[in-house]
Amino acid sequence: MDDLFSLNGKVAVVTGASRGLGQAIAVGYAKHGAKLVVSDVLDVSETIKMVEEAGGEAVGMNVDVSSREQVKGMFNAAEERFGGVDILVNNAGILRSAPAEGLHDEDWDKVIQVNLKSQFIAAQEVFPFLKKRGGGRIINVASIAGLLAFNQAIPYNASKGGSVQLTRSLAFEWAQHNILVNAICPGIFLTGMTNDMLEQESFKEMVKAKVPMGRHAVPEELVGAAIYLASKAGSYTNGHAMVVDGGWTCHL
Ligand SMILES: NC(=O)c1ccc[n+]([C@@H]2O[C@H](COP(=O)([O-])OP(=O)(O)OC[C@H]3O[C@@H](n4cnc5c(N)ncnc54)[C@H](O)[C@@H]3O)[C@@H](O)[C@H]2O)c1
Repeated sequence: MDDLFSLNGKVAVVTGASRGLGQAIAVGYAKHGAKLVVSDVLDVSETIKMVEEAGGEAVGMNVDVSSREQVKGMFNAAEERFGGVDILVNNAGILRSAPAEGLHDEDWDKVIQVNLKSQFIAAQEVFPFLKKRGGGRIINVASIAGLLAFNQAIPYNASKGGSVQLTRSLAFEWAQHNILVNAICPGIFLTGMTNDMLEQESFKEMVKAKVPMGRHAVPEELVGAAIYLASKAGSYTNGHAMVVDGGWTCHL
């Protein structure tokens, strides 16, 4: 049967995959038939185990997405082990919060480097691999902070806004190579990034009040969007910033 959401025969590389959204996407892709390269600065063995338990296969790598050499190594490994690359999920990201007037240069640089420049570096480095396969998909994990601003998170907001524009720019340039580039803009998901915030009553109340669905999400609730954008189902979706936020950004 022609399965719109199948990833059988596809090879996917997911960054920041040791936990949270990257881990959920990697496991979801494995369940839909993809072979995985999962990378992170942290240990990825738990994700590999989860992929294998789901019946899939994964290579794990220690990769800092700020390093072009290490990023290149990720795609070489995918080619050596699985014969090529079809899908890149630029998921690794960090959050630093501070009021604008007290923000340090190092925090600005670090957040822009990890959240934005790394997505461009990885896209550049995966380009020849995707071309060799006759095309592919790039999915940049941005945020609703790329569309609207969170308080006291200037470099984060700027990096995610940049990610959305990077997505549109690459989608425009690389459609001719059959490379489709899209972004996902999650709302609030319970992960290592948000765990501390979601333990605060005031933050929980804010989420309840702002999100029409009245709750935050769990990582598995992002997987469907990531599969759609990587599969045949998304074959005419290009340059899109897909919001998955329980309705937060649909109202004033
Ligand atoms: N959780 C949310 O509510 C939410 C909302 C919107 C967007 N996002 C985005 O989703 C992505 C995943 O975040 P998450 O919520 O799963 O957070 P997380 O902190 O649980 O996971 C992020 C992962 O990225 C890794 N990472 C950080 N710096 C890295 C680097 N230099 N090189 C390689 N890996 C690195 C971390 O080690 C971690 O495993 C991020 O881009 C984040 O900005 C998250």
